[in-house]
Amino acid sequence: MGYFRENIEKLKGYEPGFQPKATDVIKLNTNENPYPPSPSVMKALKDISDEKLRRYPDPFGNEFRQAAAEVHGLSPENIMCCNGGDDLLTMAFRAFCDENRPVAYPVPTYSLYPVLAKLQNCPAVEVPFDDEFNLPVKLTKTNAALTIICNPNAPSGSFISVGELASLADELSSGVLLIDEAYVDFAEENCAGLVKDFDNVVILRSMSKGYSLAGIRFGYAIARPDLIEGLMKVKDSYNVDAVAIAVATEAIKDQKYFRETTEKVKKSRNLLIEQLRALKFKVLPSSANFVLAKSRNRDAGNIFDKLLQRNIYIRYFNLPGLDDKLRITVGTDEQNDKLILALKEILSEENASLPSQ
Ligand SMILES: Cc1ncc(COP(=O)(O)O)c(C=O)c1O
Repeated sequence: MGYFRENIEKLKGYEPGFQPKATDVIKLNTNENPYPPSPSVMKALKDISDEKLRRYPDPFGNEFRQAAAEVHGLSPENIMCCNGGDDLLTMAFRAFCDENRPVAYPVPTYSLYPVLAKLQNCPAVEVPFDDEFNLPVKLTKTNAALTIICNPNAPSGSFISVGELASLADELSSGVLLIDEAYVDFAEENCAGLVKDFDNVVILRSMSKGYSLAGIRFGYAIARPDLIEGLMKVKDSYNVDAVAIAVATEAIKDQKYFRETTEKVKKSRNLLIEQLRALKFKVLPSSANFVLAKSRNRDAGNIFDKLLQRNIYIRYFNLPGLDDKLRITVGTDEQNDKLILALKEILSEENASLPSQ
């Protein structure tokens, strides 16, 4: 007998995107924001006192909860701080799922969900999206204890309207609806307001993307106070550290900087989509800070390898339904232009090697 529980023994853990050590690369593989955090974040970081480090942090991160509540027009009791959005996902599986309490989600989506289901030993009901990534109607009928919708979805970038998700929350016969809004800062609308009308909705937010804080690990939940209280029972006592609370609070307070940088990314995304389409890639509209591009007649894995040789990192998923596509994080216009130039070269090399007809 091995040391681990059987499900852990069998589990292939989550594979995070590659983090290259070199800094002189074009890194468009893990959906980070290409712009630095707000200047007030950097000041807060410099002002951290030794006393702040000596003491345990506020276990609830109340300073952040207050600031986030103001941004969303809610109360601090609607907010729970997390060690990145992933921390909330772990808590949700632990709080709502077990062998007899399944999770359901549409696929393809964030590849962490099935890993967490296996860790928790709960059945996972995977309902396929159609080609346009519309909300699958079957999701209302799964009887899952936890239904997760990633919106905008990863890795498609597709978006389901707030109205449709409100109907889903209403129609679910049982369980909680967790809307993973890790990328919503780049979309036109969001579901935060749904927590006023539905007692079964939990919203996941991340400070990694829109607020350029992937290195600090901070996210938060938005929900009715009784759901927040229940989730708090599951969290580590000090799940967010003092430095993270201080800088995340400054970041969310600086809404002007946040709007400026997210708008820049959205503009660059729309330009990148046009540029990729001009190179004959099929690209779905994206509401996130990445795009999913399907090469019409070239091997996606080969394009990925050739970009890597040029120190350009993007993401390739060798999985059914995704193995003909490339997921590209939106960089600065300068980075995107370098990517497009490299793609032009790669595609013309391959053209040259094709047999003439
Ligand atoms: C769909 C989705 N949800 C949640 C997360 C978690 O983000 P973080 O833990 O960095 O806040 C990610 C990270 O990439 C993601 O892609």
